[in-house]
Amino acid sequence: MKNEQLSPSEIEKKAAALAAVEFVKNGDLVGLGTGSTAKYAIEAIGQKVKSGLNIKTVATSIKTAQLAASFGIEVMDLSKVGYLDISIDGADEFTKNLDLIKGGGGALFREKIVASLTKNSIIIADSSKLVAALGAFTLPIEIVPLAYQYAFEEIEKLGGKCVLRKADGEIYKTDNGNVILDTDFGLIKKPENLSMRLNQIVGVFAQGLFIGLTQKIIMAKENSVEVFEK
Ligand code: 5RP
Repeated sequence: MKNEQLSPSEIEKKAAALAAVEFVKNGDLVGLGTGSTAKYAIEAIGQKVKSGLNIKTVATSIKTAQLAASFGIEVMDLSKVGYLDISIDGADEFTKNLDLIKGGGGALFREKIVASLTKNSIIIADSSKLVAALGAFTLPIEIVPLAYQYAFEEIEKLGGKCVLRKADGEIYKTDNGNVILDTDFGLIKKPENLSMRLNQIVGVFAQGLFIGLTQKIIMAKENSVEVFEK
């Protein structure tokens, strides 16, 4: 889509995505993210593939796998891959020390596998995603349905107010057949601590705090691109 048809935040998403795609090299094994920002990166990678870039990819969601295939990008089975050279994904919120909330698009589990496999995990974002502290965006927590009530109560004991995610009036199901609790913890003072405590709850399949999993964040703001890295 041409830039003049895009809103200011879409222009920023696209600019961040195009800057990130420059890091993809011939021969790379690439993780493809999910969401409206990642979509610009997938489209740009598709154009490079058409021009001769030789890469293999894995996808963080069924939707992304389908989108990538529609651009002629080869998508491998995630379960067969033991490392990735680079991944490009979006985020719902991030701080300057590279902590993230992800999962607004429901793909948090596969996104976390991909981020964990990647030597160079790049997050792309428009300027609205930068926050001083995580928590204005509700934290997505993916729950195995059988453990729903138990996990709900344990998360509430930790101070989170849980809302079961719905889509079109129906309970939302992830690509893994699980449900999502969108959880309000207020501003999260110690994300690493909360992340560890959530991981200990039986029935929590994945949670959207991404701590220590990101090497670089590329954020576009108006006409410039800013890079955050440790
Ligand atoms: C999907 C995600 C997305 O990266 C996140 O929701 C950001 O999406 P968008 O780029 O559409 O704002 O975590 O599970």
